[in-house]
Amino acid sequence: MKHYFRAPYTEKINRYTMNFQLTEEQLAVRDAARDFAQNVLKPGVIERDETQTFAKEEIKQLGELGFMGMMVDPAYGGSGMDTISYVLAMEEISKIDASVSVAMSVNNSLVCWGLDKFGTHEQKTKYLVDLAKGNKLGAFCLSEPEAGSDATSQKTTAIDMGDHYLLNGTKNWITNGGNADTYLVMAQTDSEKGHRGINCLIVEKGMDGFVIGAKENKMGIRGSDTHTLIFNDVKVPKENRIGEDGFGFKFAMKTLEGGRIGIASQALGIASGAMELAVAYSKERKAFGKPIHEHQAIAFKLADMATEVEAARLLCLKAAQAKDAKQPFGEISAMAKLFASKAAMDITTEAVQVHGGYGYVKEYHVERLMRDAKITQIYEGTSEIQKIVISRSVLNR
Ligand code: CAA
Repeated sequence: MKHYFRAPYTEKINRYTMNFQLTEEQLAVRDAARDFAQNVLKPGVIERDETQTFAKEEIKQLGELGFMGMMVDPAYGGSGMDTISYVLAMEEISKIDASVSVAMSVNNSLVCWGLDKFGTHEQKTKYLVDLAKGNKLGAFCLSEPEAGSDATSQKTTAIDMGDHYLLNGTKNWITNGGNADTYLVMAQTDSEKGHRGINCLIVEKGMDGFVIGAKENKMGIRGSDTHTLIFNDVKVPKENRIGEDGFGFKFAMKTLEGGRIGIASQALGIASGAMELAVAYSKERKAFGKPIHEHQAIAFKLADMATEVEAARLLCLKAAQAKDAKQPFGEISAMAKLFASKAAMDITTEAVQVHGGYGYVKEYHVERLMRDAKITQIYEGTSEIQKIVISRSVLNR
């Protein structure tokens, strides 16, 4: 019976217990992101969604403000901020434009963070500085037509030719695919070694044989630039491999742990944005002689929304704090993404309901947030993948 009292399970969870007080710097970052979202992104968001327009100019401005390489070492062009600031900024940008925030999230947490953490000084000097400053944009290329959730079964090959790799294959669903300059591409070098034979290569736009394929016509995040990419005998120099030979799959998994904090924060922003719109509308709209929030049917929806938003925010901040404290954060980031993406679906659906018929038309924003919410349950690991990650971690405690 003794082991029950050692409570290893509880200890591991409590190790992440956090201080909820935000610093002045973190609040200033949040306010700057909020101003940018309200003043720069909001005016064109409906049109960009309708016309599937990538907010190239606005994303460049985000870079100038230091939001595209938030956690990167300033020595390599970054802002040197913590992950909590990143969560706060992602929430504010995502409240208004989730198409912009996914470009921001991929650049920050999948591309810049991975390069900063695992790249060589030469790779950082050549690629990271421009990515972190927002002069250039990055993309992360793991998914393939037949390798989505089952990410180890990569069909793209990177054959070792001595001084370079010869890259062949197709990548699917690549965020920033058409507008990126720098691509981190996972490919199989030695199929006999399985996932231990996968490498991550830095590929530049314009390399011979690298073709940007079709753009996807999507349900949501329509301003985001999602493409198929094709590699036909692309020669990638050996010095563009990240880490040791065969490190590519672990690189992808480690990087996705942080990426999931970004997408969880995106889902949080979509959810809190929809809630704010529902609260405001419930005060304006009258039915049966009084504002609709005075009807309990509406007030209870707002109570549920507020509770889910708060819980999602706490999970995002807790994941961020674990990462900043250099604690393991794979499990908590998967929990944050699983919970926040479900909250985003629940809350946006109810926000449309609160708006009634007006919620179904574009100018009230909530229908777009509902369409945008769905992808947060799919990319950077579906909700089912998050449950695999969480359950394996729980069972290994
Ligand atoms: N950190 C480091 N290594 C890890 C790891 C982690 N978090 N998770 C797994 N690994 C390692 C394992 O240790 C193992 O290596 P060894 O055999 O050397 O020990 C190796 O990776 C394979 O692990 P598993 O045996 O657990 O592999 P699996 O096939 O059973 O499952 C998975 C792994 C968790 C399901 C994984 O395939 C996965 O996360 N799939 C989802 C992929 C995903 O998230 N794709 C999103 C695409 S990117 C995107 O959406 C970006 C965008 O543009 C928005």
